[in-house]
Amino acid sequence: MADVDVLKITNLGKSYPGVQALKGVNLSFRKGEVHGLIGENGAGKSTLIKILAGVVKSDTGEVFVGGQSVEIKNSEDASQAGLCFIHQELNLVDYFNVMENIFLGHKYPHKIIPLIDWKVLKRKAEEILEQLQVKIPLKAPVSYLSAVDRAMVAIARGFAVSGEIYFMDEPATALTDIEKEKLFTVIENLKNQGKTVVYVSHNLDDVLRITDRITVMRDGTVVDCWPTGKMTRDSLISSMIGRNLESAFPGKNSNPGQIVFKAKGINNKHIHNINMEVHAGEILGIGGLVGSGRTELLELIFGVTSLTSGHMLLDEKDYKPASPKAAINKGIVLVPEERRKQGLVLDRSIYENISLMSLNHLAMTGFLDHKKLKKESEEAGRNVRLKTSNYSNHAGTLSGGNQQKVVFAKTVLKPPRMLMLDEPSKGVDVGARFEIYSIIRELAASGTAIIIVSSDFNEILGLADKILFIKEGKQTFIIKNNNMDQERYLNYCYGRAK
Ligand SMILES: Nc1ncnc2c1ncn2[C@@H]1O[C@H](COP(=O)(O)OP(=O)(O)OP(=O)(O)O)[C@@H](O)[C@H]1O
Ligand SMILES: [Mg+2]
Repeated sequence: MADVDVLKITNLGKSYPGVQALKGVNLSFRKGEVHGLIGENGAGKSTLIKILAGVVKSDTGEVFVGGQSVEIKNSEDASQAGLCFIHQELNLVDYFNVMENIFLGHKYPHKIIPLIDWKVLKRKAEEILEQLQVKIPLKAPVSYLSAVDRAMVAIARGFAVSGEIYFMDEPATALTDIEKEKLFTVIENLKNQGKTVVYVSHNLDDVLRITDRITVMRDGTVVDCWPTGKMTRDSLISSMIGRNLESAFPGKNSNPGQIVFKAKGINNKHIHNINMEVHAGEILGIGGLVGSGRTELLELIFGVTSLTSGHMLLDEKDYKPASPKAAINKGIVLVPEERRKQGLVLDRSIYENISLMSLNHLAMTGFLDHKKLKKESEEAGRNVRLKTSNYSNHAGTLSGGNQQKVVFAKTVLKPPRMLMLDEPSKGVDVGARFEIYSIIRELAASGTAIIIVSSDFNEILGLADKILFIKEGKQTFIIKNNNMDQERYLNYCYGRAK
């Protein structure tokens, strides 16, 4: 089935005020291939996909489906052309249930117009979830679901109508390894049926593993397109960022300061008798498998949930936050996994977003000093390699990865007493990732205590001074991160000491 172009794009261009997101892109996709699309944050990947989805209008260019020129003005045109989408932003409607979200934006099967045939919809939704091998109650409002299940619902929506080409824009960032494997099986099946999958991701190992060809975009153009077998991780990185990457983790801290945070036998529904200390200048990694209670531990410390027994101390004083707001007021900040939902105000400017948390610190005599605010935000943005033409633009105009950098920049602007990071580098490109690591280390060096949860164990091994392992909500080991390798790390995660 090789070498038949199912979709061809010529001279696709798109400008936004101050930025040319796409500069005459030429690209084609073949029948029955898995095609990786990669590039730094802001390279133009999602813009290209949104144009094909009929969500964004291009300035120039033509799209050919099966050799025929097509005009895609809206999502219906896209479905008609056989194009299906899993977008980078989940775009779930919180007060709709799972089934309604799966069919959101699609045409509902009608019995007698305009009555919706719910029976048919229900069967179809069940089929899709079964294909994805997940069990999520169809009637549950999506706001009650975990981050993983929310991502699965967004993925399921991509399969609500069938087509010839499936575009997946970072579908796996919120998934656990287990769900990711399920998604890869679905991709494999699609490929075997002769369908085409376009897969966008910053996880280069995944891209190298599941794709047949890879296209690299940089600054709105296509710079390379090769069979996957001819690419390596290093060649992909240098093609993406136009230079070789010096990917070294910053050094460790063997001499931390005084104790900032202490938990003594803390308990709630998910967490059982955890004792821990985090010192100033120290990075504590939380090790454990998915579902071991890592996020729940962070949420308990952040006042999202409350203690049933035990004590917490912040700088030797009793610490018992009734809400996240109370935690922030005391100097503890959590950067959550699903940043777009929890960390940003999309219709406010980038600089307001960065400075939201530090307004107290910037306000002078009750007036906001906008000039100062902007200057400081720009500096914080530069530190995380934020790509934008103007800090007065709305945060919603940034590419997905750059939105994550905003959340990070705003934390850095006023270092908290303790910072908790849940999956700090998800969605961030490889080039910026190591900058973020060194910023985390600098924050620690300035006296902030840091806790990190990551499902990328290299991140924990490379960054943490100390690792607290938990299993089923219980603490199993606390170990200094010396001479730890992947195998030992995994053994500890499973609760086995070696
Ligand atoms: N609505 C918009 N208004 C203004 N600029 C925009 C808008 N949407 C995207 N851009 C800009 O277009 C450029 C390309 O963004 P795009 O979202 O396509 O990047 P991306 O490759 O998907 O990045 P990421 O890996 O971070 O998701 C960025 O500079 C972005 O800020
Ligand atoms: Mg994107």
